[in-house]
Amino acid sequence: MNKIVIAIDGYSACGKSTTAKEVAKALGYTYIDSGAMYRAVTLYFHENHISLTNDKEIAKAIENIEVTFRYDEEAGKNLAYLNGLNVENEIREMYVSENVSQVSRIKAVREALVLQQQKLGKKKGVVMDGRDIGTVVFPNAELKIFMLADLYVRATRRQNELLGKDQMVDLEQVKKNLATRDSIDTTREVGPLKQADDAVVLDTTFMTLEEQVDEVVNLALSKIVKEKETGMGS
Ligand code: CDP
Repeated sequence: MNKIVIAIDGYSACGKSTTAKEVAKALGYTYIDSGAMYRAVTLYFHENHISLTNDKEIAKAIENIEVTFRYDEEAGKNLAYLNGLNVENEIREMYVSENVSQVSRIKAVREALVLQQQKLGKKKGVVMDGRDIGTVVFPNAELKIFMLADLYVRATRRQNELLGKDQMVDLEQVKKNLATRDSIDTTREVGPLKQADDAVVLDTTFMTLEEQVDEVVNLALSKIVKEKETGMGS
């Protein structure tokens, strides 16, 4: 069967990763969490006291960072590794969330990660979620989804997710973090969060996870069939 690239972009915490993971599972595709890569770089910068205004220091740091994913049978998903160390839990902590958008707006960081992401999706058969996947990383992706949801709903979902990991965070703090990141992510110069012209908009405010997954899987299946008919797919 022809394989396609599915790009899922959108605002923070509107269900991109959870949906992308399930869609990948349903199609037998690989799920790649591009946000985890930006989070891992942020963790490295934090641990190594990298100044966000020192270009030389940043360039050197980027050379020393290797972010990889390894499938974990027990967790049933890919876990993020930073220079060989499992950082999956740490990168989801609030202190990383509080700094990640400042790191993600740095041009050199984006250039390095976009290249890696393009390599990961070269063979197609991937579902990648992020902010610039359909616009910069894979502008030719066969299926592009742009996700959004009400801020309060997103904050509640994220708070519950954190609670599930024994992190108790005040709802106002979560809401503020999401709003701040949305603002930095949409207004930055390089690779801003933006809806691609050919993206399908999915407002998940009143949708269940199952509905979100079904919607994307159905869209993907009709694209796959269409690719086969036109003989354009690989
Ligand atoms: O899970 P959540 O929606 O909170 O965020 P994420 O996907 O883990 O991404 C964390 C942050 O990384 C975002 O707020 C962006 O600043 C940055 N990011 C980005 O700039 N470009 C991407 N392709 C993915 C994430």
